[in-house]
Amino acid sequence: MTLSSRFSKLLHRNTSQNIRIEEVHSEQAETIAEIHGASFVHGWSENEFERLLSDKNCFCDGLFLAKAKKPSGFILSRKILDEAEILTVAMSPGLRGQKLSSPLLKKHLETLAQIGVRIVHLEVDENNLAAIKLYEKKGFEVTGRRRGYYAQPDGSRTTALTMSLTL
Ligand SMILES: CC(C)(COP(=O)(O)OP(=O)(O)OC[C@H]1O[C@@H](n2cnc3c(N)ncnc32)[C@H](O)[C@@H]1OP(=O)(O)O)[C@@H](O)C(=O)NCCC(=O)NCCS
Repeated sequence: MTLSSRFSKLLHRNTSQNIRIEEVHSEQAETIAEIHGASFVHGWSENEFERLLSDKNCFCDGLFLAKAKKPSGFILSRKILDEAEILTVAMSPGLRGQKLSSPLLKKHLETLAQIGVRIVHLEVDENNLAAIKLYEKKGFEVTGRRRGYYAQPDGSRTTALTMSLTL
């Protein structure tokens, strides 16, 4: 093992030991919109997140580093009867690749199960390998494909996979 890979493992271990996952509400809309804007071509506005985070059917968990007051990542779902859709999930760019989204998704799925959700659905770009791996590790399975679903900055369109998990 090289010195740099040993250092990176140590950094990863320290970061993952110092996280907490907490429910996020509308007062964090600005931070959530910033993370979202840094993660997607078409970021959603602060107003849009304020609306979603105030919706009684929407549930959002945030990932916080150490004693931070603002989240560094989040996952947002909407519940309809006994099903839920993951609307979006994102980590701040500097924290990606450290497997921090895995405990975030785990906790979120536990929350959804506790409030009576039986099936969770989501859509993901078929080229988004990090997200697909994250979902597959939690047991999500591909249920369909939507060709041309996502518009890319260069004008091309990519396919969405639909995935589901029975809790
Ligand atoms: C998707 C996202 C939330 C994943 O969070 P993360 O904490 O960085 O993910 P992880 O570090 O746990 O990596 C997930 C898996 O993907 C792998 N991975 C990471 N980047 C990858 C890449 N570019 N290509 C292939 N695999 C990759 C990791 O090795 C890991 O797999 P492993 O557990 O088998 O080693 C994060 O990348 C992100 O915020 N992306 C921008 C927003 C987004 O795309 N959201 C999903 C929309 S559906």
